[in-house]
Amino acid sequence: MEVKIERTKTPKPKPDEGKLGFGNYYTDHMFIMNYDEGEGWHDPRIVPYAPFALDPAAMVLHYAQEVFEGLKAYRSDSGDILLFRPEKNMERLNRSCDRLCIPPIDEAFAVEAIKELVRVDQDWVPHAEGTSLYIRPFIFATDAHVGVHPAHHLIFSVILSPVGAYYPEGLNPVKIYVEDKYVRAVKGGVGFTKTGGNYATSLKAQDVAEKLGYTQVLWLDGVERRYVEEVGTMNVFFVLDGEVVTPSLETGSILGGITRMSCIEILKDWGCNVSERRISVEELVQAYDEGRLLEAFGSGTAAVISPIGELRVGDKVMQINRGEIGELSQKLYDTLTGIQWGKQPDKFGWTVKVN
Ligand code: COI
Repeated sequence: MEVKIERTKTPKPKPDEGKLGFGNYYTDHMFIMNYDEGEGWHDPRIVPYAPFALDPAAMVLHYAQEVFEGLKAYRSDSGDILLFRPEKNMERLNRSCDRLCIPPIDEAFAVEAIKELVRVDQDWVPHAEGTSLYIRPFIFATDAHVGVHPAHHLIFSVILSPVGAYYPEGLNPVKIYVEDKYVRAVKGGVGFTKTGGNYATSLKAQDVAEKLGYTQVLWLDGVERRYVEEVGTMNVFFVLDGEVVTPSLETGSILGGITRMSCIEILKDWGCNVSERRISVEELVQAYDEGRLLEAFGSGTAAVISPIGELRVGDKVMQINRGEIGELSQKLYDTLTGIQWGKQPDKFGWTVKVN
């Protein structure tokens, strides 16, 4: 399928690269493709960035039949623009689609469409250290129908946003509140998908945590409220004495992060003892009390590697690694971002050139 391109006649001024923040600016163009039952996915096009016209009865507005992804384009010193494992994002998008009764997209085609969009807006890929172009693919139901059933009409779109660090803390350790009242996901639910509802239902806990001075919450399992799952916008790793632990994906209630997967592969390549297993809060507290909780960090496309300097469990405040970034977290950050920005050899073959 050919992607038609209509270029804007009124390009926007580019934002100051020193003040990007996260998700504040959008580029000149967007990708759109429609799904109509009987016709399948059709009419892929790149058009000037503009609002959608939606019927007030559009199903996404009522029943949240929606999935999304997040990946980034990085500008290397040699001028190449690189994507990081985009095929993994499209695989995950289709896993989310399946759970939300959304017709699957052609993954290889979607990667090519993203590359084309980034090429069209390549001047928007920022140059400043630590900045990138965040790519947000998303699919939503547009049927004007307030009955509850899978949609017959949908839109697949991709928008682009030049970004800096997700957290104002940057690479400085964040403070995380262990959530014991609200839950994010349960087995059989949609925790493993990237769907907007997972984030909508996280806002209450996030709001409470922020009012207490914490950056995000650490979710526990929805049944026993004991086992660690993930942090608001990232997966989580704990460096214990002799073992790096991250919660396993078995329960289906945790998002399978592409950065998580990459961290595990890098750590294994270094010969680290990495376990994907259940880890309870009690085990964490005990490890902390015994001086064995050496480091903790989150991983995500937006968050990259985000050291955790403080974890609060009830009234107990655990300061990890004196609130400083740990050696392993720093090494992982340097290696991962080194590959992403083309500063280090890509021995895993993860990066994909756009230009
Ligand atoms: C990402 O890391 O790409 C995410 O989607 C997290 C986000 C909700 C900001």
